[in-house]
Amino acid sequence: MLRFAVIFLAVIASSTCQKYGCLEGDTQKLEPSPEPSIQECTLYSKSSCCYADFTKQLAHSPVIKVSKSYWNRCGQLSKSCEDFTKKIECFYRCSPHAARWIHPNNTAAIQAVPLCQSFCDDWYEACKDDSICVRNWLTDWEWDRSGENHCKNKCIPYREMYTNGTDMCQSMWGESFKVSESSCLCLQMNKKDSIAIKYLLSKSSEESSSSSSSSSEERACQNKLLKFEKLKKKEGEKTK
Ligand SMILES: *[C@@H]1O[C@H](CO)[C@@H](O)[C@H](O)[C@H]1NC(C)=O
Ligand SMILES: *[C@@H]1O[C@H](CO)[C@@H](O)[C@H](O)[C@H]1NC(C)=O
Repeated sequence: MLRFAVIFLAVIASSTCQKYGCLEGDTQKLEPSPEPSIQECTLYSKSSCCYADFTKQLAHSPVIKVSKSYWNRCGQLSKSCEDFTKKIECFYRCSPHAARWIHPNNTAAIQAVPLCQSFCDDWYEACKDDSICVRNWLTDWEWDRSGENHCKNKCIPYREMYTNGTDMCQSMWGESFKVSESSCLCLQMNKKDSIAIKYLLSKSSEESSSSSSSSSEERACQNKLLKFEKLKKKEGEKTK
């Protein structure tokens, strides 16, 4: 029965249907639902693949560990670096859209989620002086019998581990993320994602998106983003 459910979900996830369900990690729901009392990962409160309870372990600083994975093996992360790490954790655990990029061979994993260059560069800037002992967070730990992670190699600064933001985004979580060539059809783990998601989801339904249709999508996305930013500015002026 479970096996059937797994296959069924995978079929839903790979079809052009707009409903993707959730990834099959150890904390995800079967399907996203609202979490009005969520404390962290609030970007996903309207439709979330994680329970509000899960985010409690992220809702303070410093974060010591998430599930069984310790974040402080090379010392406490700086606040700004920790904030970016939370954004990634929130996306993987809570985003109702993560399953759009489900890995074909591993339904708990994602593949080639398009991140914005600026997001990766800012993330790198925030973390470059923090320390890390794994290049790939998913594979390079030594896991003990109780499932806890330990360093195999010595701690070095992020800026030595990764050459730049692109290298970091495309290495730290294995194949999970890629840096997008577009500055609009990409995620940056904030409210603007809702615009990008709209176009990224419709893109997936076109099996063979020609370069002309993708450039018109790019323009449509940029226009929408511009409008969004103008609206934000107006709102900002009103509340002054
Ligand atoms: C999935 O597994 C198949 C067969 O082992 C392999 O050929 C393919 O490259 C894998 N796909 C990815 C994205 O890893
Ligand atoms: C980032 O580093 C890679 C090598 O890891 C290099 O090929 C690439 O050009 C660099 N990108 C930028 C924007 O500097």
